[in-house]
Amino acid sequence: MTMPNSSSVVTRSVDRGTFENLYAGPAPWDIDKPQEQFVAIADRVISPILDAGCGTGEHALFFAARGHRVVGIDFVEEAIRRARRKATERGVAVEFLVKDALILGNWDERFATAIDCGLFHVFSDEDRRRYVTGLAHVLKPGGQLFLMTFSDEEPGTEGPRRVSRQELHDAFADGWEIESVEPCQIEITPKFTEVKFSGGGPKAWFAVIRRKR
Ligand SMILES: C[S@@+](CC[C@H](N)C(=O)[O-])C[C@H]1O[C@@H](n2cnc3c(N)ncnc32)[C@H](O)[C@@H]1O
Repeated sequence: MTMPNSSSVVTRSVDRGTFENLYAGPAPWDIDKPQEQFVAIADRVISPILDAGCGTGEHALFFAARGHRVVGIDFVEEAIRRARRKATERGVAVEFLVKDALILGNWDERFATAIDCGLFHVFSDEDRRRYVTGLAHVLKPGGQLFLMTFSDEEPGTEGPRRVSRQELHDAFADGWEIESVEPCQIEITPKFTEVKFSGGGPKAWFAVIRRKR
C-alpha cells in the first residue's frame, strides 16, 4: 500500500491511480457493512445526505435503507460501479456519482448532512482546505458533518496520513463548530494483510462538526 504517510506538511493528496490499485485487491476499508460509529449516529442524520468518498457504498446504502435520500460520490469508477450493483441487488435507491470531492465548490446540490469515512485523511494540506471549503458550500447552514479519520495515535507511518485532534480543530476553525472528537478504531477487512495496524483496527477520530448558521 503506497500512500503518503504522516508528516507535518503533506504536499500531495493520494491520487486516483493509488485507489484504483487498492480496489483491484482487498481494499482494507471494504468490510461489506458500515463502520459501527456511523450506525451509532443513525438517528441523528437528516436528509438529504452526502457520502463523500463513498467507495463501494456501504454507508450510503445503510442510510438509504433507513429511508434517507443519499448521494454518494467517489472519483474511482470501479468503486461507483460496485456501489450501484449493491444498490440494485439490495433494492435500495441511492444516487451514486463519479465525482471528485475537491470540486464541491461548483456544485448546485445542497445537503443537510455530510458523512466522510476515510476521505479527509487522503488530502494534502492544500487540498484539505479546498475540500473543507467545498463542504461548507454544499452543506446547508446548521448542517452536520460526521467524519471518521485516521488518528495520530495510530503507531507507525504506513497507510494513510495521521491526523491530530488539533488539525481537525484547525481545519474546521472558520464557519464550523466542532461538537465532539472521540477516539475510535476503524474496522478493516481481515483479507488485507499488507500493513499491520493496531489490534482491533487503526486508531481513528470520530468527529461531529456543524456548519454554523
Ligand atoms: C478509505 S476509502 C473509504 C471508502 C468508504 N467511505 C468506506 O468507508 O468504505 C476512501 C475513498 O475516497 C475516495 N477518494 C479519494 N480521493 C477522492 C476525491 N478527491 N474525490 C472523490 N473520492 C475520493 C477513494 O476512491 C476511496 O473510495
